Amino acid sequence: MKALVLAGGRGTRLRPLTHTSAKQLVPVANKPVLFYGLEAIRDAGITEVGIITGDTGAEVRRAVGDGSRFGLRVTYIPQEAPLGLAHCVLIARSFLGEDPFVLYLGDNFLIDGIAGLVESFLSGGHDAQILLTRVAEPQYYGVAELGPDGEIVRLEEKPEHPASDLAIVGVYTFSPAVHDAVRAISPSARGELEITDAVQWLVDNGLRVHSHLVGGYWRDTGRLRDILECNRIVLERVEPGVAGTVDQLSEITGRVVVEAGAVVENSVIRGPAVIGSDTKIISSYVGPFTSIGSGCSVRGAEIEYSIVLDGSSIEGVSRIAHSLIGRNVEVSRAAGVSNTHELMVGDHSRIQVSA
Ligand code: G1P
Repeated sequence: MKALVLAGGRGTRLRPLTHTSAKQLVPVANKPVLFYGLEAIRDAGITEVGIITGDTGAEVRRAVGDGSRFGLRVTYIPQEAPLGLAHCVLIARSFLGEDPFVLYLGDNFLIDGIAGLVESFLSGGHDAQILLTRVAEPQYYGVAELGPDGEIVRLEEKPEHPASDLAIVGVYTFSPAVHDAVRAISPSARGELEITDAVQWLVDNGLRVHSHLVGGYWRDTGRLRDILECNRIVLERVEPGVAGTVDQLSEITGRVVVEAGAVVENSVIRGPAVIGSDTKIISSYVGPFTSIGSGCSVRGAEIEYSIVLDGSSIEGVSRIAHSLIGRNVEVSRAAGVSNTHELMVGDHSRIQVSA
């Protein structure tokens, strides 16, 4: 069994972060979302992993390396343009050989891992296994219509009028039969070879496609609210611990991680929260469900339910919530006229100020 991990794509829904960075490397509880997937693959007993990369390939390579620190052997397969998930399978043909494999979308997060799913695929003798989960907004996903006995009737990619609320989760298992499917299908209206169409092809051609309803927590972290939600779920399970220094005037409650070299002075930190290495939290409030990266500075500020990436500073601002702040960002109080907002922000940024 091999794994094919997709870490390309444009990540348009997470701009401006994805102008310069891979969406799969956005951190959840201070660890890139992609790493959770790689660990899940390893925990399912798979060691041979192909990673499809796009424009951000260099950054993904830098982060993952040869995979040895995850106990994996990684082969990089560059995709010249985001031509679809089925196109990724097409260009990975020689890497995949005649092995069955897991196709894992690098921005997907499954709290329960994939070991059970891989096992049920291998013992079930299927040609493909897809995972489904009920969602509130199926139009943003691949959607499955099931028959009375749970058999797949039809799969549709991001339908305007979804036939059900069953979204296709971005973790699929395939036998080599899928290679015929990805060669047979044509690009969709958005110009991509859709994996959803490849699975439909398998169904239409009488191959054994099994669907499995996922009970546990799943998120596609391609959108802000989903990545914040995912951060919340992971923080609720982190092992608390203080490796940095916290002074007597500070109050720390709940699940809080203070990484090595971090300094907390005269502040309140209400967990669950993670404070990254070499970060300073001075005279501030860090509220629940917040991850602050490494080398950040938070002074005289309040922040909660947010993710802050490495090297950013937040000074004299209250209160920041539901926010994703990129690397080396400065957020501070405007001098001069009160109630004035002074902004210098990148393309496709989104700012919501209090009224
Ligand atoms: C892809 C698939 C879609 C699936 C989703 C899960 O969509 O095309 O069928 O439901 O992943 O994350 P994308 O996120 O690439 O738009």
